[in-house]
Amino acid sequence: EASALHLKGGVVVNADQETLADLLIDNGKVLEVGPPGSLMAPDAEVIDASGKYIMPGGIDTHTHLDSLFMGQNTPDDFFSGQAAALAGGTTCHLDMVMPQKGGDILGGYARYREAAKRSVMDYSFHIVITHWNDQVEEAMGKLVEQGLQSFKFFMAYKGKLQVSDELLAHAFRRCRQLGAIPLVHAENGDAIDKEQQRLIKAGITGPEGHQLSRPPIVEEEATFRAVMFANLANVPLFVVHVMSRGAMEVIAKARTAGQRVIGETLASAIGLNQSLIWSSDFTTASKFVMSPPIRTEEHRLAVRAGLAGGALQLVATDHCGWTSAQKALGRESFLKMPNGVNGIEERMHVAWQQLINSGLASPSRFVEVTSTAAAKVFNLYPQKGVIQAGADADVILLDPNAEHTISASSHHSKGDINIFEGNKIRGKVVMTISQGKVVWDGSSLHVQRGAGRFLPRPAFGDLYKGLDERDAIRSAEMYPYGPVPVKRDLAALHAKQ
Ligand code: URP
Ligand code: ZN
Ligand code: ZN
Ligand code: ZN
Repeated sequence: EASALHLKGGVVVNADQETLADLLIDNGKVLEVGPPGSLMAPDAEVIDASGKYIMPGGIDTHTHLDSLFMGQNTPDDFFSGQAAALAGGTTCHLDMVMPQKGGDILGGYARYREAAKRSVMDYSFHIVITHWNDQVEEAMGKLVEQGLQSFKFFMAYKGKLQVSDELLAHAFRRCRQLGAIPLVHAENGDAIDKEQQRLIKAGITGPEGHQLSRPPIVEEEATFRAVMFANLANVPLFVVHVMSRGAMEVIAKARTAGQRVIGETLASAIGLNQSLIWSSDFTTASKFVMSPPIRTEEHRLAVRAGLAGGALQLVATDHCGWTSAQKALGRESFLKMPNGVNGIEERMHVAWQQLINSGLASPSRFVEVTSTAAAKVFNLYPQKGVIQAGADADVILLDPNAEHTISASSHHSKGDINIFEGNKIRGKVVMTISQGKVVWDGSSLHVQRGAGRFLPRPAFGDLYKGLDERDAIRSAEMYPYGPVPVKRDLAALHAKQ
């Protein structure tokens, strides 16, 4: 059993306040938070936190560990990917359950549960849905009962993962019934397919073809389409990896109109622009190939400002880091290039650099977009996402003055590529505490295979508050697409005119 921990002299940061406070941790939980010098724990190990921020561990809402995608297995499994996460201050993540061949959803999920037995930190899953029938609808019900309340739909990857509009319409209503949240990868897959063919025909086969085939408007349109289907079904919506200004503005506009749309952006979107993708060196350019693509500086600045200011709600990674050998499979054509980039270890540092050192946001906002918002949206709050008595002791210490440089030569992820290579960061996670134990001391990991726990998440969370009232209002107003149009009401409406 690990001893109790007594963190003294730090600044405790939650999404709603920053206070100079001490912290007692015991038995995997936060026992007490109190004014400096007020807590008594003679047997606890004392940790000097003076000059440091004490924050909730990061929650990464979007990762691909131990996954098969575009015919390739991701180099990071639940052990290496999570160890990397802990070294970067992330203590919890939600992984995408990608479908297995034959599309057996429950079987696919079981495989991930098995793979996750090697976990070193807490985790949950989103379930990807790629086809539709009675078995799928039934499986969704079973999964919600087991504590999964989020289903992901790809609007891109035509002929592979892409779903139809009809499927979205049906599945969003099923999510509404179950109290679940649909997630969308919003890009118009048909438009991309056409552009890809056009580019290949024109002889553009290099990594830049990937970029050219998926311009921002393709993302913006699909984002709006998903928002529209969510509006009709009166269901909350989570848009993964928002990479462009237009998509962000679609989300912000829907939110202004009262719709519950959550926009997730990525470390790659706020930390990088596309300049290196135009490199004539294949190896350099290929590192940055992901979908939707990393965009121009204009988009980076807009998305970063949106994350700081509230147009976007949180920042994840879409960690799907490949080896350079796997990226080389795309040498013949960008169509064969495994899509995806690293980030699970770098996200907290990139977000700190881009939000805090830029002067755009406060440490509280940093906590909100890296941890608290994720916990709230996915019904893990207040077990996760906050430092208060009773919460899980997933806690990080960040030294705002420590400088370091990101590099593949020192990262813990298994891929040999780091898209943030050479980035200088001021601010470093010098300690990560997971389940009440020090698992990262600023230079070494002390993780235990199997220590990570699956976190069941209840349906009908906070995002569902008030949705019934909205249904009722629509129904009463005879909104044409309302859920309960009754003939008798129509007659009354006609009589009035
Ligand atoms: O390029 C990406 N993003 N790869 C991972 C799969 C996905 O689309 O999220
Ligand atoms: Zn149905
Ligand atoms: Zn995606
Ligand atoms: Zn993804």
